[in-house]
Parts: sequence; C-alpha cells; structure tokens
Amino acid sequence: MGTALVTGATSGIGLEIAWQLAEAHHDLVLVARTPARLEEVAHEITQVAGVGVQTLAADLSVPDDVARVAERLRVERGAAESAGAARAPHTAAQVAARPIDLLVNDAGFAVGQPFTTGDIAQERRALGVMVGAVLELTHAAVPGMVKRGHGAVLNVSSVTALTAMGTYAAHKAWVRTFTEGLASELRGTGVTATVVNPGLTRSEFHDRAGMDADWPDIAWLQADDVARAALAAVRRGQVICTPSLRYLGVNALLRLAPRGIVRRVAGHASVRTRY
Ligand SMILES: NC(=O)c1ccc[n+]([C@@H]2O[C@H](COP(=O)([O-])OP(=O)(O)OC[C@H]3O[C@@H](n4cnc5c(N)ncnc54)[C@H](OP(=O)(O)O)[C@@H]3O)[C@@H](O)[C@H]2O)c1
Repeated sequence: MGTALVTGATSGIGLEIAWQLAEAHHDLVLVARTPARLEEVAHEITQVAGVGVQTLAADLSVPDDVARVAERLRVERGAAESAGAARAPHTAAQVAARPIDLLVNDAGFAVGQPFTTGDIAQERRALGVMVGAVLELTHAAVPGMVKRGHGAVLNVSSVTALTAMGTYAAHKAWVRTFTEGLASELRGTGVTATVVNPGLTRSEFHDRAGMDADWPDIAWLQADDVARAALAAVRRGQVICTPSLRYLGVNALLRLAPRGIVRRVAGHASVRTRY
C-alpha cells in the first residue's frame, strides 16, 4: 500500500487510474483544475474504496500551481507517519504528510487548432500542461523516490507521438522520449518510469476540444482498459505500454511506414480532427 499522485484525475483515463489504484488500496492525491469535481471524486473514492484522498486544485499551465504540486511531491516521511497515522483509512491531512510512491502525469487536452493560424496562448497552455508540468513534477518526485529506493512514474503519451499531428503529437513525442531516457537513468535505483500510449479513448477529451470524433467503434478504447494496461505495466516495471492489439499494430505500422506517407495520412487526419 502506497500513495499515488494523479494529475487529470477527475475524468477519463486519469479518473480510471485513480479508481483502480484506490481499489488496490493506495491512498491518493488527486490533481485537476475544478475544485467541485475533485471533491466529488474524492468523496466517492473514500466512501467506496475506503482509502485516504487529498485533493489539490491546480491549473498545470500556471507555473505557480505547478510549483505547489511539485512541493507536495517533495514531502518526505515525517512526524505524521507515527504508528497511529500509519493505520488505514487515512484522513486527507494524513495523506498530505505521506511521501508519493507513484506519480501519474495524465493531465492533457487536444490543442484544437492549426498552429499557423492558432492562438499562441493556447499553444503555451498545451506545452505547459503536457510538457512543462511533466518535466517539473517528475523532477520534484524522483529524487525522493531514489532516496527511498522505490517508486514509479507513469506518463501518459499517445499513439499520435509517432505521427505528425500538430504540436499535440510533438508534446506526446517528448513525453515518450523523455520517459525512455528517464527509465534508462533510473535503472538499478528501484524506481521505474513507464509511458503509456493510448489510441482513441472514450473520455471527455474530444468533446472538450469540440473535435470531430466520428471514428468507427473498432477504433475506440475504453478508459478503464487503458488504465488497467498502464498500471499492469507499472507493476512489471515495463517502460513502454501500448494498450490493445489493435494499437500495437498501428504502432508497428507507424514505425515501419515511410515518414512521407505518415505525414501525408496524419496531416490529413490532423486537419480533420484538429488535434
Ligand atoms: N482520449 C483519448 O483519445 C486520448 C488518447 C491518447 C492520449 N490521451 C491522453 O490521455 C490523457 C488524459 O486524457 P483523457 O482522454 O482522459 O481526457 P479528459 O477526459 O478530458 O480528462 C482530462 C483531465 O485533465 C484535467 N486537466 C485538463 N486541463 C488541465 C490543466 N490545465 N491543469 C490540470 N488539469 C487539467 C481535467 O480536469 P479539469 O478540466 O478539471 O482540470 C481532467 O481531469 C491526456 O494526456 C491525453 O492527451 C487521450
């Protein structure tokens, strides 16, 4: 039993990861922007799974908010870890005093615009949440994990990382490569890094961006299946996880296909979907 901090924990893949961790008796720190949704999720998880939950309302495109979450990740085992406090279920205050054993960088969104004519502030927000915050939060979490000799980081990338679909694909490619480099650096420390590359997944992601998500049923994954595959990969210490045979196939095709073809097909899809 450990404590996990999950960003993007109020919806979609992050919410499913939070529930599955709670069902496996992990205490949780839930991070997202909307306080009412955070409280609602925390209440339900506490009631149903009987684990302790701390909530942190933070907009991960805002540096001060990222710094607050980073501070939480630097918490080391302290006085609150006395024998009494170690007994579950923990209160939110007890959870707040515990070090983080698993960091899940899930928060993200579709940029939803072409780069050349799009709003640069929106580009900065996307870069901040999907790259900047992943960098800062991982840097805050990992040294303590290495000192304790155990821990894990799970980063959410996407199959689009292997495409050429706008700056979203570029951010997700960064997440994928970053995680692989981190995993190599951490070898032998007892700390692991895993990147999950979901394909199209049912969540609020496409609606939020007003995207055309008119793909056939076969193309869609369920968020709970993605979460299950990702957490199984973390438990095995696996570095790269691509949920489902379908998307393993897509992944292989994207790796083998000439880049010119990938750019042509992905560029067409990108204009249509506005990633
Ligand atoms: N759905 C897909 O097809 C798909 C495929 C591949 C990869 N992914 C990736 O999977 C991850 C999760 O996406 P999802 O599909 O589960 O989307 P989702 O249902 O829209 O959930 C996104 C979560 O992130 C939070 N969030 C959004 N902006 C934030 C910000 N600025 N600061 C802090 N939290 C923020 C949201 O809560 P608030 O709005 O309250 O902040 C929500 O909890 C993302 O990284 C996405 O890129 C998704």
